[in-house]
Amino acid sequence: MTTGQTFPQQGDADRTDVGDWERLGVDTSKPHSARIYDYWLGGKTNFAPDRAMGDAIGQAIPSIRAMAKENRAFQARAVRHLVRDQGIRQFLDLGTGIPTSPNTHDIAQAIASDARVVYVDNDPIVLAHARALMVSDEAGRTSYIHADLGNAEKLLADPALTSTLDLEQPVGLLLIAVLMLIADADDPWGKVAALRDALPSGSCIALTHPTQDFDPESVGQVAAAAREGGMTLVPRSRAEVTAFFDGWELLEPGVSPVMGWLPDGEAPADPEAAYYWAGVARKK
Ligand SMILES: C[S@@+](CC[C@H](N)C(=O)[O-])C[C@H]1O[C@@H](n2cnc3c(N)ncnc32)[C@H](O)[C@@H]1O
Repeated sequence: MTTGQTFPQQGDADRTDVGDWERLGVDTSKPHSARIYDYWLGGKTNFAPDRAMGDAIGQAIPSIRAMAKENRAFQARAVRHLVRDQGIRQFLDLGTGIPTSPNTHDIAQAIASDARVVYVDNDPIVLAHARALMVSDEAGRTSYIHADLGNAEKLLADPALTSTLDLEQPVGLLLIAVLMLIADADDPWGKVAALRDALPSGSCIALTHPTQDFDPESVGQVAAAAREGGMTLVPRSRAEVTAFFDGWELLEPGVSPVMGWLPDGEAPADPEAAYYWAGVARKK
């Protein structure tokens, strides 16, 4: 983690001098995925352009906030499943986002107090809030790395990672609502394959990805609005999402609508009401 910097206080981003954020490399003039997402989830780390884009997307998809919450609910179900049923005790959470309770370590350590988590994001505003992710005791350590998930070799050799995770033991790799921010031209499949190859047998991937498959028109409008706002946001098909798990064994129920992936309680009436594919797979 980068140290020695003074960060603005967590809270309503607009109440902090925008110049403070810009000095830290946060471009507040353009919408950004982490802050739009924070806005939908009811957080306070967002600026006017983030809210404008969040609202534009909300025009096309009025239930977008509920969908963002379904995505987080999957994350919690998947982490619990990995800890309880797959014996995973260490997680690499890529594209962490602005801390939102419960975070991965809260979920995992509620079941196994010795669970360890490394969080990774490449957005300086997430780095500014990383202290909220580094609250564990010695048994259940966490750490935060400010990095791009696309350089697996560098990331997996980072001392903050190697001092927290044992890469000889299975790792739970979380790629929750992040790969849509990587354009096809930047080869997200190759980047995920490099991570898959480096992890030991028994490791698992839990992943969500927005899709146009359930509502082509509205999601098409969102992708167009994002493009106009200068953001990369690529919805992907079930086949494209399934390819991120290539060579690993998909756990039941396979790549499913996010609400339909091992729901707590009764199955939802319309699992396709949240426009994300979700899945969990295990390395043999
Ligand atoms: C939509 S948020 C999702 C946050 C969280 N995973 C969740 O689902 O609640 C996507 C996050 O991925 C981060 N991100 C995007 N591209 C990234 C990359 N190449 N490497 C690391 N983080 C990235 C963004 O900064 C943002 O915080």
